[in-house]
Amino acid sequence: MKIAVVGTGYVGLVTGTCFAETGNHVTCVDIDEKKVNKLQQGIITIYEPGLEVLFERNIRQKRLEFTTSLKEGIKGADVIFLALPTPPGEDGSADLKYILKVADDLGSILEQYAVIVDKSTVPVGTAEKVTQAISKNAKVEFDVVSNPEFLREGVAVDDFMKPDRVVIGTESVKAKKIMETLYAPLVRQGNPVIFMDEKSAELTKYAANSFLATKITFMNEIANLCERLGANVDMVRKGIGTDTRIGKRFLFAGIGYGGSCFPKDVQALAKSSKDVNYDFKILESVMAVNTRQKTRLIDHLKGYFKNELEGKTIAMWGLAFKPYTDDIREAPALYNINALLELGAKVRVYDPEAMENVKEVIGDKVTYCEDEYETLEGTDALMIMTEWPVFRTPEFKIIKEKLSSPLILDGRNLYEPEQMKEEGFTYFSIGR
Ligand code: UDX
Repeated sequence: MKIAVVGTGYVGLVTGTCFAETGNHVTCVDIDEKKVNKLQQGIITIYEPGLEVLFERNIRQKRLEFTTSLKEGIKGADVIFLALPTPPGEDGSADLKYILKVADDLGSILEQYAVIVDKSTVPVGTAEKVTQAISKNAKVEFDVVSNPEFLREGVAVDDFMKPDRVVIGTESVKAKKIMETLYAPLVRQGNPVIFMDEKSAELTKYAANSFLATKITFMNEIANLCERLGANVDMVRKGIGTDTRIGKRFLFAGIGYGGSCFPKDVQALAKSSKDVNYDFKILESVMAVNTRQKTRLIDHLKGYFKNELEGKTIAMWGLAFKPYTDDIREAPALYNINALLELGAKVRVYDPEAMENVKEVIGDKVTYCEDEYETLEGTDALMIMTEWPVFRTPEFKIIKEKLSSPLILDGRNLYEPEQMKEEGFTYFSIGR
């Protein structure tokens, strides 16, 4: 099949590359000339494990191409994916300006029937709006389909190639057939392609992410309670996670969820609910609890140093919102850095992938180090923000030698409290 993917961010680039890998001819379109230039030269613009090999192979095989011209990109395409950003507007609702602009343009340049696919996370009713925008100038038949993505950064290629399910919102028989053929190579293990109406598909994405964010937040509250009651959240997690109705995954307490999806989607669903006069109480609480959770360790730090953080230097391990990504959007590390700077502390940071992105946002307000041990030079405490594997079994002796006080604040529960006690550390983690 011939595919066009409009937007070459995380979702667009993974979608385009993976559909080329299953034998389609894919043209990715982006208005950012610099980005397209790089991609045309075979330089990948995001960090996503496993993607580069597929990216290079499909460029070599001439199945994957890039252009800045929408008209050129969609020429002859059977399916056109819209993988454009939907940033939160001031009121928290998803801003559709990028999608609707492309939809407007598509109407006048479409020369053949095509399935237009909303891949971005968009509010319920967007497929209808996109249809209207294209219809204004369209000379040919087309269908608009909602096909939300459920990729996790860091394992996006795997999630794409072996999805638990594919959700497709359309009532058009023609579009259904095309989408079924396109996804057939990815669901050979028997995982379902679930067809439904557009609105239900659109809501499915928000419901999935909001449910997962709620699940994490619930565990964060249980963890906070564990600390007060003297229980251990690891045990409670195992105790409840083995109940198949609850499930083991996404029950890890920590310093709050971040990333490009959960915060934005919870906020957008809350706003959509308000718009239809529904007070979605759980979501309001989830947002409030998550904000509080992000800087929980700062409270311990303040307590330990009796509110005297002025002039203290803190080592920080991990900046990305989770491991195996360089993404720092809504990363708890950023909130903690800002909180520490406001309290007059200095911060020395290290992350295996996200340092460049942090430099762009925070600049020289913190010290960037070559590795995790270098962060510890002349510091008073260590804070752990991301559970990169390299931080899991460090040389505790070196850490202790370098810190002025043996204090570790672990936002990801990487170490055993008992072991930390034996090693002579004051150790704060979440819910233990
Ligand atoms: C998420 C969804 O999982 C994916 O389906 C959707 O399409 C996009 O959003 P992603 O943002 O890449 O993916 O990361 P994910 O692995 O889901 O983690 C999100 C956040 O939750 C991270 O900040 C992570 O640290 C946190 N988290 C996750 C926890 O705090 N505890 C957990 O048990 C799991």
